Amino acid sequence: MRQINKSVEDFKELFDKEQRKCFEKLAFLDIPDYRKSDWSENIFFGTRNFFFKLFKELKKKNLKILDVGCGPGHYCNSLYDLGNRVIGIDYSKNIIMVAKKNRKGRNIKYKVCSIYSLPFQNEVFDVVLCIGVLQSVAHTKKAVKELSRVTKKKGVLFISTLKKPSIFDLPLVFSWHVIISLMNKWFSLKKLMIIFKDNITLATTKSYFGYARKVKYYRAFGIKRLLKKAGFKKNTVYYSGLLGRFFYNKLFLKIPLGARHFFIKAEK
Ligand SMILES: C[S@@+](CC[C@H](N)C(=O)[O-])C[C@H]1O[C@@H](n2cnc3c(N)ncnc32)[C@H](O)[C@@H]1O
Repeated sequence: MRQINKSVEDFKELFDKEQRKCFEKLAFLDIPDYRKSDWSENIFFGTRNFFFKLFKELKKKNLKILDVGCGPGHYCNSLYDLGNRVIGIDYSKNIIMVAKKNRKGRNIKYKVCSIYSLPFQNEVFDVVLCIGVLQSVAHTKKAVKELSRVTKKKGVLFISTLKKPSIFDLPLVFSWHVIISLMNKWFSLKKLMIIFKDNITLATTKSYFGYARKVKYYRAFGIKRLLKKAGFKKNTVYYSGLLGRFFYNKLFLKIPLGARHFFIKAEK
């Protein structure tokens, strides 16, 4: 058992290290900014449109907002333009350089740091975003605790991440990322044990620029459970629509059918 625990820890450390290396590399490629976050075009815009739909429903301005894993700063720029005070953090110093270039005179603060250790006091942000980040994070529980720590009482946290396929997602069985994971023979017995123990699924996704990347998939109820433990009382899940890949911009549903991503609006 001790041996397995040690393997889990080593594996997690390696996972975090590999993810970081990949994002540092992507930042300096000559590609559109949303691709530096390893998004495809329709998923980037779909997620962004949906987030702003939820955000505008809050009907508040001059909020203090933290974007965790801000990437090139797309969300930070738009949130600032809507009249809010915004801070973006990311562990990639290269992507923070890109975000700083993109802020073009806006008074947005950026910091290089990890989601595991946010350099802010407790309960200081009205809104916290964590969009497309948890799939790259090995210690999910620790990350969610930290997101909760900096969110104010009555504050809101928005999370978007990858959804673990289930039996209801038959169309996904034929999708590219499942086939790629199988082809890569990535699942050894030891890794399966690690995955089982941590209640996560890992698969290899081929990033658009040739860096093969292992990512984590989650069940929404797993994240909801962590959020509840961390102090969020009302957690609403939205799935990225039927056959998310094709109708991403159009449909966010409250049922998981065929979705590849999900969104959670967590309220304290
Ligand atoms: C898929 S990108 C999303 C960027 C941005 N949120 C967006 O949607 O455009 C994930 C970002 O999270 C950052 N990230 C991943 N793991 C992180 C961690 N442990 N701590 C801080 N940033 C992290 C990566 O460097 C990357 O910029």
